[in-house]
Order: sequence, then C-alpha cells, then structure tokens
Amino acid sequence: MSTAADERPRRITTHVLQEMKNRGEKIAMLTAYDYSFARIIDRSGIDVLLVGDSASNVMAGYETTVPITLNEMIYYASSVVRAVERALVVVDLPFGSYQGNSKEALNSSIRIMKETGAHAVKLEGGKEIIESVNRILSAGIPVMGHLGLTPQSIHKFGTYVVRAKDDTEAKKLVDDAHLLEEAGCFALVLEKIPATLGAKVSGELKIPVIGIGAGPEVDGQVLVLHDMLGITQDFSPRFLRRYHNLYQEINGAVTQYIDDVKNAEFPNEKEQY
Ligand code: KIV
Repeated sequence: MSTAADERPRRITTHVLQEMKNRGEKIAMLTAYDYSFARIIDRSGIDVLLVGDSASNVMAGYETTVPITLNEMIYYASSVVRAVERALVVVDLPFGSYQGNSKEALNSSIRIMKETGAHAVKLEGGKEIIESVNRILSAGIPVMGHLGLTPQSIHKFGTYVVRAKDDTEAKKLVDDAHLLEEAGCFALVLEKIPATLGAKVSGELKIPVIGIGAGPEVDGQVLVLHDMLGITQDFSPRFLRRYHNLYQEINGAVTQYIDDVKNAEFPNEKEQY
C-alpha cells in the first residue's frame, strides 16, 4: 500500500519548490542547526531546512544575529547537511559576509557551498544588496531573498516591530521583491509584515514566497525550530504557534534524573554489568 510519504519527491530541489507553488501546494520550512534535530525534521518530511543566522540567538546565546561569523555558520550547516536526505538545505549568509562587497559575497557563498554541501544561500535585503545577489547567482549558486523584518539590520531599525505598515515602505518592499525575482532568486522569505502585503507579493511573484508572520496567503511558512518546539520561553510574537513545550519536558526529565542520582535510584540492577 502506498502512503502520502511514498509519493513525495525523493529530494527537494528549487525546481520542486517552483512546481509546488505552481500547483498551489504549500511549502513547509523550519530552521535547524545540528545533526540530531535535522535528522528528525528531515525524516518527518519537511520541505526546506534553513540553517538560519538565528543560530546566533538560539544556539550561541547572543541577543541579536549580528555577531555570528561565517565560520560558525559553516560549522552548523555542515552538521545539518550530514543529517539530511530529502530536504533542500538553505544557509544564511551572516552579517558582514556580503553587504557592500559583491566579491566578498561570492567568496562567502562559495565557502558555504564547498565546505558544507548545502544547496542554496539566503541574504537579507533588496536593492542595496542586488549587486551581491547578481554575483552569487552568476556563479550558479541558488539564492533565497529575505525582506520585511531583516534582523541583521536591527541596529538601523532599533526595534523588531511589524515592517512595511506604511505605503512608502510597502512600495519599496514590493519593488524589492520584483527586483529579486527578476535577478533570478528561486524564493523569497517575508518576515513580520501585514498579511495583506504578504498576499499581494505572493500573488504578483512567480517564485515561491515563504512567510514568517506574513499571513496565510503566501506559498509556505517558516518558523524557528526552538520557538515552535517551546525550547525558547521568552519570545512570543503573535505569529508564533508553539507546537510543544519542550523546555518543560526537558526540565522535568533532568530534574527526575538528578533526583534518581541523588537518591541512588539510578542505575538499578538491570542498568549495570
Ligand atoms: O535566521 C532565521 O532563522 C531566519 C528565519 C526567521 C526566516 O532568517
């Protein structure tokens, strides 16, 4: 008997994502930063795994995504790639590795592709970084764009509030989205923008548009793994749905283990040689 899982493509490519958009099938994307989680998520049937620079927050404990380095991203990405058999793996170019210098952008992307085995890179921004996007694409490296709330620019914006609420910023976002599509990006992430704007961009663009806080009428959704599993506790934007409370589960298990050790209840007679 064949199941839905058997009918899924064996390997997700940028081409498969485009076909999914064409036939109206939603794309499911999550972040991952290590081998063990990536293996579980890939085997669960996720379409895209993003090695996001949110690793800076959830893996390294920094307040923003600004400090994470290219070498650190390469370490996380290679761990994820070793686990993945099916999903498309996209890696964030970290802050400082592509802005304002298209040659450096290309070199950073080549390092990611060669040293991790990932399938694509993601960059934040529109017109300001289009030279870098063009140069990376010219080397045959697939590029995912990222507009709306762009956390690498937090010190410019000063806050993580919803972006593109006014007409001027909304128009720039739409123009940037078209620019990225025309340049040849295979997909676009839209973060924390009004749902109506998400729907408009997704309707106008041919390439898949993946939202995080961009409403339901986009071509797919992405969440940060540690947020949706409830490992992070103090981050609760409206767009976040928590599917589990892993913090509590882990805390419960560890407390139980400590008690068992302290009370000499672990190991028991079956747990020894
Ligand atoms: O770094 C990240 O996790 C991201 C997602 C929020 C899209 O860019």
